[in-house]
Amino acid sequence: MAAPDLVRRVAGGVRRRLRRPGPPLDFPAVEGRIHPHDDMKDPRDTSAAHYAKVGRSALEEIRESLEPAGLSFGDVGSCLDMPSGYGRVLRLLRREMPAAQITACDVNREAIRFCASEFGAVPLRSRGRLETLRLGRYDLIWCGSLITHLDDRRVEQLLRQFADALMPGGVAVLTIHGDPPDQSDPTYGPLAHEARGALVSRGSFHVPYAGALDDYGHAWHTEEHIRGMFDRVSGGAVEPVSFRRRGWDEHQDVLAFRRRA
Ligand SMILES: C[S@@+](CC[C@H](N)C(=O)[O-])C[C@H]1O[C@@H](n2cnc3c(N)ncnc32)[C@H](O)[C@@H]1O
Repeated sequence: MAAPDLVRRVAGGVRRRLRRPGPPLDFPAVEGRIHPHDDMKDPRDTSAAHYAKVGRSALEEIRESLEPAGLSFGDVGSCLDMPSGYGRVLRLLRREMPAAQITACDVNREAIRFCASEFGAVPLRSRGRLETLRLGRYDLIWCGSLITHLDDRRVEQLLRQFADALMPGGVAVLTIHGDPPDQSDPTYGPLAHEARGALVSRGSFHVPYAGALDDYGHAWHTEEHIRGMFDRVSGGAVEPVSFRRRGWDEHQDVLAFRRRA
């Protein structure tokens, strides 16, 4: 083997070893183990009590979103959790339906593999180019904290995908940042005035993270903007069924939509 090849192979092995995660972690507060790379668990949340609380809040929001559409978890034969991350919410959805009926979809390959091996969900790899996805069809779509990161072009692509992926009578539960950033917010406070103006004038505001792919960032939307966009991209096939301001852990707004039967 030529010397440069050998160096490359050794360096690749070292890189893989450094990236290899430790074992999943157990916390009494949490149902199921947490992957060490799950960045939804804040290191300051040492007991993972907050992680568990956010998961429970999502499950209750989904339950309450099904009700006005005349459904309960018992009616859900197939569920898409997108983005699943490492299963903060998915681990609780398993209480309500067999895990094999839940599809864990994310761009993060490691995250969906974990949801499959640890919780028994069906993994589905997403892409930055949302328009090229093939999601399948579902009675329930849970989309917790993805729209909150996307610019309008990608939100539109995502909602178009969701409209196609909903079974007749199926429900999509989406979350948004509806309130503009607070002036005291150390990161986005300086943009509070601009964000407020943008929400009033065009219903959305987006700031890409430095160096992020596909303009992934932080985004705010009004309820009306998302409703209008979903109505338009679905050709009127999707109707709003509920809205709860700051419903998810007193933070993100929760909107539910139903595909007309
Ligand atoms: C804030 S986390 C929320 C994860 C999960 N819903 C939860 O509550 O723990 C955002 C997730 O979106 C995923 N993501 C980013 N772009 C995506 C895309 N184009 N398709 C699917 N998932 C994406 C990220 O990998 C990350 O897991």
